[in-house]
Amino acid sequence: MNAGIASRRLLFLGMKYAPIGVFDSGYGGLTILKEIVKYLPQYDYVYLGDNARAPYGNRSFETVYRYTLQCVEWFFAQGCPLVVLACNTASAKALRTIQQNDLPLIAPDRRVLGVIRPTTEVIGNYSVTRRVGIMATAGTVNSGSYTIEINKFYPDIQVFQEACPMWVPLVENNEHNGQGADYFIQKNLQHLLGQGAGIDTILLACTHYPLLANKIMQYLPAGIKLLSQGEIVARSLVHYLERHPEIANRISYSKLRKFCTTDDAIDFEQKASIFYGESVAAERIEL
Ligand code: DGL
Repeated sequence: MNAGIASRRLLFLGMKYAPIGVFDSGYGGLTILKEIVKYLPQYDYVYLGDNARAPYGNRSFETVYRYTLQCVEWFFAQGCPLVVLACNTASAKALRTIQQNDLPLIAPDRRVLGVIRPTTEVIGNYSVTRRVGIMATAGTVNSGSYTIEINKFYPDIQVFQEACPMWVPLVENNEHNGQGADYFIQKNLQHLLGQGAGIDTILLACTHYPLLANKIMQYLPAGIKLLSQGEIVARSLVHYLERHPEIANRISYSKLRKFCTTDDAIDFEQKASIFYGESVAAERIEL
C-alpha cells in the first residue's frame, strides 16, 4: 500500500503509526524483512539500512554497538514498539548491551530482538551428525556468539566457523553472480569443510549471503544442507508476538512499508529490489 494512502487510513482508523522496525547495516536485512512480511503481512514496517556506514562486519564491538544504538533510537523516534536487528553482526556485537543496559533506561516498554537466538534455537533440528558449519562476517565469527548460543540449546553439537570477509562486498557491489564470487565461495567452503569431517548443515549466518545461495549450492558436497535465516526468523517472530500480546497489540496494521537509508535513496532503490524481490521507494534519513 502506498505510504500516503496508508497514513490516511491510519488517521481514519484513529490508529497511531507504530510499525515494526527492521534494521541492517545495509541491504541484507531485506532478505529477512521479505520473509517476515510473508508471515505477518498485516503490520506496518519501517526498514533502515545504515548504508552510509556499512559494512559493519570488520568493525570493532564499540563501533557496531554505537552505530546500532543510534539506529535503534531512530526507530523509537518513529514510534516502533518492536525493532528486529536483521543483521548478525549487530545482533552479535550490540544486542545484549542494548537489551540489558540501554532499553531499561531509554524505552523499558519497547523490545529489540536479534536473529541469532531464533536461529540457534532450531538449528539442532536440522543436523543428524551434530556437526554444524557457520559462515558469517569476521565480526560475527570472532564474537563467538553462534558457538555459545548453539551450545546452550544443544550441548552435543560441535560448531565449526568460517569468516567470509569478501562475501558482503561482493553482494553489495552486485558481483554475486560473477566469477569473483565463485573463487571466494570455493575458498571459504573448502576452509570450513577442511576443519572437520561430518558437517551436515551449514548456516548462512549473514543476511547478505542468501543472494549467494545458488552459487554455494554448486560447490556444496551432496548431503550437506544449506540454511538461510529469513524463514526461521519470520516463524520465530510469529511465535514471539503470540506470546507477547502486550507488544503485538501496540503495532499498527495498515500494511504500510517504509524504506529508509542513511545513504543515497536512488542507489538504495536500485539495489534493494535484488534483496527484497520487488521494487521499493526509499527515503534518505539523517541520524
Ligand atoms: N548483513 C550483515 C550481517 O548479517 C553483515 C553486513 C555487514 O558486514 O555490514 O551480519
